[in-house]
Amino acid sequence: MFARDMAAALTAFPKSLPCCYFYDRLGARLFEAICELPEYYLTRAEDEILRAHAEEIAALFPRSTELVELGSGSAAKTRLLIEAFLRRRTLKRYVPLDICRSALEETSSDLVRAYPTLEVFAIAGEYREALHHLSATAGSCKLILWLGSNIGNLERSEAGRFLGQIRDTLAPGDGVLIGIDLRKDSAAVEAAYDDAGGVTAAFNRNLLARINRELGGHFDLRTFQHRARYDAEVGRVEMYLVSDRRQQVAIDHLRLEVPFVAGEAIHTENSYKYSLAEIETLAATARMRCRRTWFDSERRFSLNLFTAGELAR
Ligand code: TRP
Repeated sequence: MFARDMAAALTAFPKSLPCCYFYDRLGARLFEAICELPEYYLTRAEDEILRAHAEEIAALFPRSTELVELGSGSAAKTRLLIEAFLRRRTLKRYVPLDICRSALEETSSDLVRAYPTLEVFAIAGEYREALHHLSATAGSCKLILWLGSNIGNLERSEAGRFLGQIRDTLAPGDGVLIGIDLRKDSAAVEAAYDDAGGVTAAFNRNLLARINRELGGHFDLRTFQHRARYDAEVGRVEMYLVSDRRQQVAIDHLRLEVPFVAGEAIHTENSYKYSLAEIETLAATARMRCRRTWFDSERRFSLNLFTAGELAR
């Protein structure tokens, strides 16, 4: 898959790499480092919201509830919700899904150690894998967590379609809790995606490093510059790796020579930001309603509860 996708991506014009491949073991660690950066406000803002409202959110699910998390990573913020549900004795089990198996295993065993009564059922795979596991769980509700503005990495139309598929698995009383970054001025967004210490640049370049490690690639990482550009009109950050010179890069296992002209950019990822109106539209596209929206004190980030029907009492 990795080999096939990379071959297609590097021979396309313009070149564009599929972003799900960011998260190998090293990539997952670099992303954790991004979350600690002063410039990356998203994690802290969402953490602030969860600290203030985890109890209130848990109270909206008074019956036995299964927490399913899409892209769980280290699940650091999720602990606030897990603890709130555990205190109310309403947590059936926690089902983390992540593309990075090593992060998933580490997170799951940390959680089981931290909360001896917690049942964890971990799923290694992509988002669509989750859909197979979301069928009704007898006797309990589910709350699906999609935090960290992970939704921003999908095109707006894809996000609506995927949430529509999730919606079809929901029973009355179930919900989807979605962390969505808000539109804001360019400077704050661009700093978050291009930090002074170069951690984000290293994270972005890890895609090329992965091709070197796994596919016998010969990318010289020093010749590819990280670039993040916020298109305020479209409301998205676009991430690129830009070749600073004309060069040919051999990738042995793909029997491929990839030519670059000086200044040629490989597109690696988008991160969409939403207005409140766009969040409403997203919910409507997915045939759901946005029941509640919580903000951090600086209104940079939002946490949104979508439901298909009424919540249980
Ligand atoms: N989900 C993260 C986001 O959009 C992913 C991310 C953060 C990212 N920084 C990045 C992806 C830099 C590529 C490059 O905020």
